Amino acid sequence: MTTDSPDTRGSWGSKLAFIFAASGSAIGLGSIWRFPIMVGLNGGAVFVFAYILAVILIGFPLMLTELTIGRHTQKNPVGAFKTLKPGTPWKLVGYMGVITGVCILSYYSVIASWGVGYLYKTLIGAFQGEMTWTRSDQIFSSFTANPVQVLICFLVVIALTTFVISRGVKGGIERWSKILMPMLFILIIIMAIRALTLKGAGPGISFYLKPDFTKINPRLLFYAVGQAFFSLSLGMGTMITYGSYISKEENLSSSAGWVCFSTTLVALLSGIIIFPTLFATPGINPQEVQASTGLMFQVFPLIISKLPGGYVFGVLFFILLFVAALTSTISLLEVPTAFLIDEHKWRREKAATVIGAAAFILGIPSALSNGASPWLTKINLMMKMDLVFGNIMLAVGGLLITIFVAYVWGIPQALKEISHGTPRFKIKPLWIFSVKVLSPLAIIAILVFTIFFA
Ligand code: TRP
Repeated sequence: MTTDSPDTRGSWGSKLAFIFAASGSAIGLGSIWRFPIMVGLNGGAVFVFAYILAVILIGFPLMLTELTIGRHTQKNPVGAFKTLKPGTPWKLVGYMGVITGVCILSYYSVIASWGVGYLYKTLIGAFQGEMTWTRSDQIFSSFTANPVQVLICFLVVIALTTFVISRGVKGGIERWSKILMPMLFILIIIMAIRALTLKGAGPGISFYLKPDFTKINPRLLFYAVGQAFFSLSLGMGTMITYGSYISKEENLSSSAGWVCFSTTLVALLSGIIIFPTLFATPGINPQEVQASTGLMFQVFPLIISKLPGGYVFGVLFFILLFVAALTSTISLLEVPTAFLIDEHKWRREKAATVIGAAAFILGIPSALSNGASPWLTKINLMMKMDLVFGNIMLAVGGLLITIFVAYVWGIPQALKEISHGTPRFKIKPLWIFSVKVLSPLAIIAILVFTIFFA
């Protein structure tokens, strides 16, 4: 973004700058950490298949919808609904997004903080030598069970995110992420190739890529849609906010397409690293650990240790993972911050600091729920937060945004906004069908089934 003060609204320097910023928001722990857990929890390849469908049929259209609202109104989510339908309760959808954002930020930063801890551990050589499952698992659980270490790392993540947002130094981050994100991508590909060539990778590959369609059920679809929303940063107004910085010349549809494509690719590759490695590692029963909260942190060191130059590779990987997580936490904090600046005329520093502090306090129980507090661990508080905010609230938010555009603001208005910069909107029929019929019906059906029957 070229400028960042509340009164002169900034805009992205170019189309590529926007795609990088939006992919920075989207690509992160959602794809690398959360996606494999969801695959493990929902029976493997059939989930991968459902996830891809959810991205194409529901996620991509919703991303376009959010960007359109954002660019048209040039506002944060609350302001956007107020502008389009003044004096109606629709602004509550915006408020819901702001609250969801703070809640996701609270536990998401905890996972990011594990990345910080792992970077430190890699630097001091904790993963040197022969890596076995028992050793990797032990390193993970003793780290997350130590409240002091976890809370310090958590504080580092929140403080850095707050600093970036309050100083408006995002410009710098964007410039850096243009170099670092492609590097992360290359590292992930190298790890994926190594994982595929492990002895005994076969069962993991079939678990991950050979779908058993008899396993499809509403709960799986619910998680697939939730994962699509989570990984693409949808359902709470992030893309409304990011869209508000896009210029009229840009092609919203192809930008959204690129973001969806790159994010899905990273998620798929992360699974290609995890499952073959997991199934090929002696001494574990994959069924027991394939949905574990720490899956990525337990498995990645195993494959990194099998690469030449494992030490340097590991350090580099955890630095890049941290950058990927930071560009996502930044986007989560930006929504509530933009709301307080625009709607309540707060100063940027004050808004970012207050929300950052709130997210920290709110996140403490999640930070302690992986071994540090027996009770919070037993109820698995962090994954409960993720279920409520990362799945249900995003799905409800996405549903309401879709209904709003289809039946309140109106398809013709949205199409007019999309047409700026997109003279030939090739997937117009898909978008209209998704927004008017498929997305609302599918989301309602899935929510009702899972909440009442599962
Ligand atoms: N999409 C990010 C990830 O996958 C997380 C994220 C950032 C997010 N902003 C969001 C998720 C808004 C939901 C809504 O890591």
